[in-house]
Amino acid sequence: ILGPARPQPLEGKRVLVTAGPTREPIDPVRYIANRSSGKQGFAIAAAAQAAGAEVTLISGPVDLDDPAGVTVAHVESAREMLAAVEAALPADIAIFTAAVADWRVAHEGAQKLKKTAAGMPPLQLVENPDILATISKLRDTRPPLVIGFAAETEHLIDNARAKFARKGCDWMVANDVSPGTGVMGGDRNTVHLLTRDGVGDEIKAESFPVMTKEDVAAMLIERIV
Ligand code: CTP
Ligand code: CA
Repeated sequence: ILGPARPQPLEGKRVLVTAGPTREPIDPVRYIANRSSGKQGFAIAAAAQAAGAEVTLISGPVDLDDPAGVTVAHVESAREMLAAVEAALPADIAIFTAAVADWRVAHEGAQKLKKTAAGMPPLQLVENPDILATISKLRDTRPPLVIGFAAETEHLIDNARAKFARKGCDWMVANDVSPGTGVMGGDRNTVHLLTRDGVGDEIKAESFPVMTKEDVAAMLIERIV
């Protein structure tokens, strides 16, 4: 028996979401990563799907089931994530929740690095591509609505404002990921939605109380609609 049809306000819209951490190989057995669980991005992908959108979720390694009805691309590194995002375009709305590793090692070891008498291996780091900034700056295929997530452990709003100004996205969601909050890996999130005022391009910040990541997703989808 079918219940009443759920409203499908995003029907016909293509939504792209990145989620989770990335893993940057050091050698065949080691990598650089971070504490992202992917929960916020997965919740957003599921909420967009429930609102009728055609959703592509590009995820780093996480311990979560693929959301039903969502096309999921599983990737490891930042460079793989960027390639998968580019392959998923065009999109109407792109939401970048992934905690992309900022750096990778310059020279990945072909074999396992060994302890030697010579001491520690020097790990030279190079910067990864910034996926959000890259997509925000596209000319022809830039999604009309690009949303970033700013993860900060201090000076949350000020840092997020500066990041917003720098990245070229349309909205920025600021979230406090300092250890006491339990946001990294946890089920709750406290967010601030930064948008630009039509007049003068001034940045406004709207603050929300602590919510489940599902409720943050629902709030964001409501704003998008
Ligand atoms: N991001 C990205 N690619 C990167 C780094 C970040 O797409 N290589 C995206 C994230 O998915 C997020 C936003 O940029 O939407 C902000 O990420 P964050 O790590 O908070 O900002 P950074 O610009 O990397 O600055 P920093 O880590 O130094 O605070
Ligand atoms: Ca970063």
